Amino acid sequence: MYFGGDYNPEQWPEEVWDDDVRLMREAHVNLVSVGIFAWARLQPDEGEFDLGWLDRLLDKLHAGGIAVDLATATASPPAWLVRRYPDVLPVTETGTVLGPGSRQHYAPTSPDYRRLAAELVTALGRRYADHPAVAMWHVNNEYACHVRADFSEHAARAFRTWLADRYGDIDALNEAWGTAVWSLHYDGFDDVRPPRASPTTQNPSLVLDWRRFTSDSVLELYRMERDALRAAGATQPITTNFMGAFPAMNYWDWAAEVDLVSHDGYPDPRDPEAFRHAAFAADLMRSLRPGRPWLLMEQAPNAVQWRPSNAAKAPGQMAAWSEQAVARGADGILYFQWRQSRSGAEKFHSAMLPHSGTRSRTWKEIVELGGALEQRDAACPPRGDVAVVFDWENWWALTQVDLPADVDYQAEVFAWYRALHARHVQVSFVRAGDDLSGYRLVIAPALYLLTEDGAASLEQFVGSGGTLVTTAFTDVVDENDRFRPGGYGRQLADVLGGEPVDFFGVLPEDGRSARGLDGEPLAVITMVEDFELHDGEALARTGEGEPVLVRHHYGSGTSLHLACFTDRSGIDQVLDRATATAGVRPVVGGLDPTVEAVTTARGVTLINQSRRPTSVTTPDAAFELSPYEVRHLIA
Ligand code: GLA
Repeated sequence: MYFGGDYNPEQWPEEVWDDDVRLMREAHVNLVSVGIFAWARLQPDEGEFDLGWLDRLLDKLHAGGIAVDLATATASPPAWLVRRYPDVLPVTETGTVLGPGSRQHYAPTSPDYRRLAAELVTALGRRYADHPAVAMWHVNNEYACHVRADFSEHAARAFRTWLADRYGDIDALNEAWGTAVWSLHYDGFDDVRPPRASPTTQNPSLVLDWRRFTSDSVLELYRMERDALRAAGATQPITTNFMGAFPAMNYWDWAAEVDLVSHDGYPDPRDPEAFRHAAFAADLMRSLRPGRPWLLMEQAPNAVQWRPSNAAKAPGQMAAWSEQAVARGADGILYFQWRQSRSGAEKFHSAMLPHSGTRSRTWKEIVELGGALEQRDAACPPRGDVAVVFDWENWWALTQVDLPADVDYQAEVFAWYRALHARHVQVSFVRAGDDLSGYRLVIAPALYLLTEDGAASLEQFVGSGGTLVTTAFTDVVDENDRFRPGGYGRQLADVLGGEPVDFFGVLPEDGRSARGLDGEPLAVITMVEDFELHDGEALARTGEGEPVLVRHHYGSGTSLHLACFTDRSGIDQVLDRATATAGVRPVVGGLDPTVEAVTTARGVTLINQSRRPTSVTTPDAAFELSPYEVRHLIA
């Protein structure tokens, strides 16, 4: 089990380093991420490297028994680079050049940035490939976190090349994007531009490909660094830190290119549901590479500094959230950052070692957790019986502005995950088109963009005995965001026992509801389908008689289609029915929803994620969990 954090020794005189190593040992730290923002220190000018200080530091850490996750340091270009090559700077959709003075000021497709980044990475790789302290490599940092898309001329050129590879010729692109609408026809790839600021809505097919390109082009930059490290002789695992359900990068694609998934999570201590958001991110990270541990690369030891108001973590809360990650498959708990900065934008961000030093509560909690984790081996939990579909391409397609109603895909997926989490059901995430065999229940909220592979996997799943839950706005468009010939619902009509023939927005003042299961009202919110029943059975209908929950037996399985979106209570009604049909059981029954329960490789971990004591009764025992207490029940 790894324990440690980002270590930025370049911010401190060397005399402090000995103290750092001594205190790291006291805190049970065994891994630190070094040099993430140290480019200016490592390379004072083009072609000139200053690695002596890093040699001394790595030797010191190694002598202290502390391993290093060595950064490639490409996340913040130095002043000389911008001075000499100003067009490395990224550009926003309105044409504003994002200047230096903070960080991440590079266009991912800039040839000069890529060339100079490769030189730095190669120099570091050659020097440290065999250094005994280096346990892994940390490429760049949180790719695209500040610059979610770059609209520069470099990007425009790279986009055209990407499109030419995808479509072969411009006629195929015109067809795929439906450019007969609004005279958008292109005569050649050179006519295509990034979706920069425009009078009104850009062609959504273009925007979808732009998002694919943006994720692919940044991934390509990651691959360049990774391959440069390998070419320089590095044999250690290579990773870059993901950010949970981060909209701009398709982490299903990215996960295949890293040796281990690592994740940065900053839930807001003020949000009583923060632990469920953290669980969502943890399960997503685990699911990206099933059966392999992942690393919590960053979390805050206490408060952050970047929200308008930054609340403390309650005593025990940091440990509870860390234990949650371990239970969900993390093999290391790391923080931003080791020693609190004296200056700069993050000087108010908590650190493992605050300015108040070893007398602080933060330090004491860090040392205690480090000691507890030292005794622990990492292990992946089983994947569970329930899969929730989470698909980036679908997310991108749904972020367009001109829909029957705005659909917040991430919030919708979270709403279903949340309900399952609160009833203590173990969940994995899948990508549309994955093999679903072995799951009992699959939930596919708002799967608007449904490819043929995606539809085939859902059909196969239900046909062979699974239970599928779908919502409104499923199976609407193809991979280019076009309707299929004949309209919507073309692929799943047989499975769902009917098809949507139209979609309408619903606002709270419309006051729509249906009579749901067991006569309970079922809220109809955001959107309702005009759903044409074939051989499905309506389990709930609106006052006007429109079906809003449709059950259908298909093959040896069952589908439940919610022809609208609904609220928490509606989701619970559907889940009661779906889990009973599928035979899905909670990890532990009868728990308070604020107690988190995870089936681990060794038994069950229970975590009281609230500020109140909570009693727990299992078939074998009854006990009380104090606030944020963690209890491991060994099977
Ligand atoms: C991100 C970055 C870190 C640091 C933290 C602060 O996760 O990767 O460098 O800025 O945020 O919360």
